[in-house]
Amino acid sequence: MMIKETYQVTAGDMTAAGDVSARIKRHMKQLGIPASVMRRVAVGTYEAEINLVIHSDGGRIDFAITPEGIDIRVVDVGPGIADIEKAMTEGWSTATNEVRNMGFGAGMGLPNMKRNADEFTIASEVGVGTDIHMLFRI
Ligand SMILES: Nc1ncnc2c1ncn2[C@@H]1O[C@H](COP(=O)(O)OP(=O)(O)OP(=O)(O)O)[C@@H](O)[C@H]1O
Ligand SMILES: [Mg+2]
Repeated sequence: MMIKETYQVTAGDMTAAGDVSARIKRHMKQLGIPASVMRRVAVGTYEAEINLVIHSDGGRIDFAITPEGIDIRVVDVGPGIADIEKAMTEGWSTATNEVRNMGFGAGMGLPNMKRNADEFTIASEVGVGTDIHMLFRI
């Protein structure tokens, strides 16, 4: 059976931030995904979700199980990222003080996604949005 789900992420709503990645984790538990894989996907989708809430105007997270593994695609509409190399640098962040006071904005989300995924690609167009692909082998 082909398993494919799409989850919408709303921008700006910090009270709901984390809900989608929690739902994805529950879904994986039901599917019997090994705990070590589940943990890595949970980290990747959580960081992606928070970035959508904080940095974008909203988007979606697609979850699919393919012969290669767990395939996650994150697509948003928003300002995009002008310098991806900079954005991928640990500690680099444009987060506001308000966001930092909530405990985010360490500049660790994207590096964390890359570290946890077996494959990671990011593409972005300024003024359009950002597109991230992560593959987690089972
Ligand atoms: N979806 C996005 N749209 C626009 N800009 C983004 C997006 N995701 C990341 N960025 C930019 O890349 C920077 C680095 O992102 P990263 O997730 O690594 O750190 P952060 O979100 O600032 O802090 P942390 O993830 O540690 O809470 C962000 O500060 C922001 O400037
Ligand atoms: Mg982040």
